[in-house]
Amino acid sequence: MSLPTTDSPALSAELRARTAAAHDSAEHSPYMTALVGGRVTGIGLAALLGRLAPVYAALERLGDAWSAHPVVGDFVLPELRRSERLADDLRHLTGCDEVALSPASVAYAARIEEVGRTSAPAFLAHHYTRYLGDLSGGQVIRAALERSLGLTDGAGASFFAFPDVRPGALKKRYRELLDEVPFDAWQREELVAEALVAYRLNVALATELDRDLARWTTA
Ligand code: HEM
Repeated sequence: MSLPTTDSPALSAELRARTAAAHDSAEHSPYMTALVGGRVTGIGLAALLGRLAPVYAALERLGDAWSAHPVVGDFVLPELRRSERLADDLRHLTGCDEVALSPASVAYAARIEEVGRTSAPAFLAHHYTRYLGDLSGGQVIRAALERSLGLTDGAGASFFAFPDVRPGALKKRYRELLDEVPFDAWQREELVAEALVAYRLNVALATELDRDLARWTTA
């Protein structure tokens, strides 16, 4: 295998380029297309958020454990935390605290726990895939939900809101942090490979929602 050496591109650019095709698959599932198109109902949104709750619980539990690490700790920013927001939204949308577990969600959270506990590149791969996504496509989804369901921060769609920061500015800062990470070539490879795994797990989650699409959408 040939690995990048001295003239490696910036890590943020490399990650983005090497995951672009995977992103395309994640973005264009029937459920995600319906979500952006404003055709997902409140219960349909809860079906997604309920599946994401165990994923963020794992990410944020491990984030707490990594917070004192000299490199990874910089990424564990309080303004990114989503778990409490997910719980609030689910309560608002379904009237209860229970999360119905799904195989794709359980497998995703288990993978984060499995590789993200001991490997800094693997943890960062999962962190990057979700949070940079929330700061990017999440903002498109947020606007669609506000238009279609009238959902706003504090009323069912707080998961998509970053009230104390400008998402664009935080995204820029996140990419700068990535570019400062002192990973060697093998660690960079591990990071990209695990980000591709993270995308596959997101696609599996969306595929689960696609199977019951009529239940989650309006005509
Ligand atoms: C409705 C679905 C989606 C839409 C509309 C969408 C849209 C976008 C857009 C427009 C960007 C580029 C932002 C920029 O360059 O500033 C982006 C970036 C990103 N999205 Fe998505 N996305 C969607 C789904 C997803 C999913 C399911 C994931 C995986 C969890 C994801 C993860 C990411 C990541 C990690 C980036 C940052 C890429 C980088 O610049 O390194 N997106 N998305």
